[in-house]
Amino acid sequence: MASTETINTTSVLVPTTATILEVLDETPDVKTFRVQIDDEQARENFKQKPGQVAELSVFGAGESVISITSSPTQTDYLEFSIKRVGVVTDAIHTLTSGDKIGIRGPYGNGFPVENWKGKNLIIIGGGIGLAPVRSVLNYAIDNRSDYGHIALFYGARTPQDLVFKWEYERWSQVEDAEVHLTVDCGDDTWKDNVGVVGAIVKQVNPSPENAIALTCGPPIMIKFVLQDLFGMNFTPEQIYTTLEGKMQCCVGLCGRCNIGSKYICKDGPVFSLAELNKIHGDF
Ligand SMILES: Cc1cc2nc3c(=O)[nH]c(=O)nc-3n(C[C@H](O)[C@H](O)[C@H](O)COP(=O)(O)OP(=O)(O)OC[C@H]3O[C@@H](n4cnc5c(N)ncnc54)[C@H](O)[C@@H]3O)c2cc1C
Ligand code: FES
Repeated sequence: MASTETINTTSVLVPTTATILEVLDETPDVKTFRVQIDDEQARENFKQKPGQVAELSVFGAGESVISITSSPTQTDYLEFSIKRVGVVTDAIHTLTSGDKIGIRGPYGNGFPVENWKGKNLIIIGGGIGLAPVRSVLNYAIDNRSDYGHIALFYGARTPQDLVFKWEYERWSQVEDAEVHLTVDCGDDTWKDNVGVVGAIVKQVNPSPENAIALTCGPPIMIKFVLQDLFGMNFTPEQIYTTLEGKMQCCVGLCGRCNIGSKYICKDGPVFSLAELNKIHGDF
């Protein structure tokens, strides 16, 4: 059932316009869109936290929920990495610099990065699932003294499917940070790890002491990564993930995104495993 909270639907569901500044080709079916909200006041009001989402709209096609992949420390523009899977995302992929989209948000709780100050961060992504956790990674890098050691583990099916290739060198040069890349199937050009991302995490064996692990990717990857993290003695309180689900309004009105008594759009999309266990039974 949808929330009974009174919401002024005439204002919260109305998008504002934004201009696409740049489009970066990431993989054969993923592009990153750099956009700027047109209205100066709306731009200032759009204050996101790492892990929050926005509803992006294309006139005549519809709206889609997309993670804000840029860090809030990047104030010149917002970035969205979008995989083509259907009507709206196909329409967005036809757009180029100078084109307009609709945007509303930011929505959701985001990652509790303030509570993680002083902790080591272990970030584990798979495929397009790197997009939401990249906002945390770049946020922690831009606030480097607030966080401990940073370890990124990222895997994709093939070298062509890796997103944000243009950032790996910068990430690997960050002080007290390590970057581990892997693909399921390599090719002649690939000189790095081959194998599932969980296997690389296990090999490196990061300590759970004073650490937080964040993971986002395909459900099958999450399932195995959780087992690996448990095997390394991470507790459900130390593990966070961001959920995808069927979403429509993003403001707790339509009731499409509930899991148990929670709405992914308002109470999530970020949950600790301890919270998910309470909602769902053991993961
Ligand atoms: C919290 C959240 C964050 C997301 N972040 C991103 C992101 O950063 N980048 C990105 O590319 N996508 C992201 N998605 C998924 C994105 O919202 C959907 O891919 C998109 O709405 C599909 O719309 P469409 O009209 O192009 O496809 P449709 O024409 O509506 O559907 C095409 C196919 O995609 C499937 N599909 C539709 N919605 C989803 C969904 N939510 N998850 C998985 N499959 C879906 C349909 O079942 C169908 O098989 C996110 C979704 C959620 C809920
Ligand atoms: S209640 Fe509408 S998407 Fe969550």
